[in-house]
Amino acid sequence: MTKNIVLLPGDGIGQEVIQAAKAVLDTVSEEYGHSFSYQTESIGGSAVDEHGTPLPDQTVEACKKADAVLLGAVGGPKWDTYPSHLRPEKGLLGIRKALGLFANLRPVKGFEKLLHASPLKEEVVKDSDLLIVRELTGGLYFGTPSERQNNGQSVVDTLSYTRHEIERIVDKAFESAQLRRNRLTSVDKANVLESSKLWREVVEEKKAQYPDVEVEHLLVDAAAMKLITNPSQFDVIVTENMFGDILSDEASVLTGSLGMLPSASVREDGVGLYEPVHGSAPDIAGQGIANPLAMILSTALMLRHSFGLDHEAQIIENAVKEALDRGYHTADLQVHGGQKLRTKEMTEKVVEYIKSES
Ligand code: NAI
Ligand code: MG
Repeated sequence: MTKNIVLLPGDGIGQEVIQAAKAVLDTVSEEYGHSFSYQTESIGGSAVDEHGTPLPDQTVEACKKADAVLLGAVGGPKWDTYPSHLRPEKGLLGIRKALGLFANLRPVKGFEKLLHASPLKEEVVKDSDLLIVRELTGGLYFGTPSERQNNGQSVVDTLSYTRHEIERIVDKAFESAQLRRNRLTSVDKANVLESSKLWREVVEEKKAQYPDVEVEHLLVDAAAMKLITNPSQFDVIVTENMFGDILSDEASVLTGSLGMLPSASVREDGVGLYEPVHGSAPDIAGQGIANPLAMILSTALMLRHSFGLDHEAQIIENAVKEALDRGYHTADLQVHGGQKLRTKEMTEKVVEYIKSES
């Protein structure tokens, strides 16, 4: 398989962890006979420094032509005082929008070795392995009007969805469930919101197309509670933009470290942008000690969702588990005993296990 991948290292540890992604991809291409070509472009604060904009046209053009995009992270204190059009995060929102990425997929899986790193009880997080499918380009964050009215004495935000927007994210969620354990939980607030009633209607209609998937509806308040009291009951959760934003941050406490969480933002044709959930970590940037596993797991998501390489993705995920099980970890992970490694060394361990499994 031949694929063209754009790398957007961005800022801070983004520059360091993107190297881990490349090392893993090089290994996969050698072991499985794929050909991946890379093109590195700039985004975020480093793009502001270099090109005077957080999202250069050249970056957008390259990403549009690419089969998939891998992004490190953007931002840092240096740019915090810059005017809003020069803020690094404008680059990130801009590229998601330019590529039309409407589905945000966030798998949350507790690795056994890290169970006690979560603030939740071990017996609660044990066996949790879920995927949140969040709608990313509609809902409250994009509805108009969104403004102050009556001389600032009242305010309105608009939660709007079209049937088409709901259908495409619900399809994505059903398809994701079929690749996992065939369970789908649709989260809404259908007892109050009109938008949620349409959402529920669409899910009910779509059910017939996916007879092997078991569907459940949950109100968002109950879902928030169950997510941290009984997370192992969930397989795939699908929800609108704001509910998904909140629930996915809540779910991240299940895994114990920000340095472990990957994410994918995709559209219908499979093109996607893959990035760790964490930011640029200015406090440790440049030291070579960042945890590369979120970036590596994001790379696995790219292989699975953009290229259909399920087996290779699974091999990478197994290799991460293997490295952790043997006690190797980075400084951010609370692991008793074992061996603390730097970014590059941790990556080498994962690479070694990919080679031994293939
Ligand atoms: P952060 O995720 O960068 O860091 C939070 C804490 O977690 C820090 O102590 C950091 O050292 C640690 N951490 C994060 N990732 C790690 C990793 N892979 N290995 C080891 N430790 C890790 O969030 P923070 O500090 O709120 O934001 C820093 C900058 O990153 C800001 O400019 C923010 O705007 C930006 N940011 C960018 C995101 C993105 O590009 N998607 C997402 C979140 C924040
Ligand atoms: Mg958020």
